[in-house]
Amino acid sequence: MEENRETTAIVFYSKHHRNTQLLVDAIKKRAPEVELMNINDMNMIYLRNYDRIGIASGIYFSKFAKPLMEYLKLHLPEGKKVFALYTCGSMSDKYTKEVKELAAQRNCEYLGEYSCPGYDTFGPFKLVGGVQKGHPSISEIQGAVDFYFSLDKKNK
Ligand SMILES: Cc1cc2nc3c(=O)[nH]c(=O)nc-3n(C[C@H](O)[C@H](O)[C@H](O)COP(=O)(O)O)c2cc1C
Repeated sequence: MEENRETTAIVFYSKHHRNTQLLVDAIKKRAPEVELMNINDMNMIYLRNYDRIGIASGIYFSKFAKPLMEYLKLHLPEGKKVFALYTCGSMSDKYTKEVKELAAQRNCEYLGEYSCPGYDTFGPFKLVGGVQKGHPSISEIQGAVDFYFSLDKKNK
């Protein structure tokens, strides 16, 4: 198991097909010290106890999920290191705008982000059996784990 000295919590929202949950569960499996907080379960943890806060979500109407962002607007502490993870139906680098703005407002260091496609059956896509079927793939899930461990290099 790779060593990771910073304490990390990942706050996530993953409801559509639990695509994003596949990423955070894989990280937790390889780095059991990471605390996961599922906004849907409301298994609350104190974010101020962690050095790094991961923010993970499916993309809903071009944004991270509203309940997740509302929670973070209330509870993201000042001065943390922040990273983002997301899955989406169609890729765009604009989805993290709100996350980056919030991090800047709280004087948090934005470490970076990882994204990959996620199975999407929203609206008209349902009629055609959805798009991005089979995503996130095993290698995309591994990509999230690799991204997580790459964050350690940014601490040096
Ligand atoms: C209501 C709704 C709105 C969505 N809006 C977008 C969008 O604006 N852009 C996009 O790329 N994907 C969009 N998607 C697709 C999801 O981002 C994608 O399926 C994601 O992997 C869902 O993550 P989850 O299963 O972890 O919730 C939307 C899905 C739903 C259900």
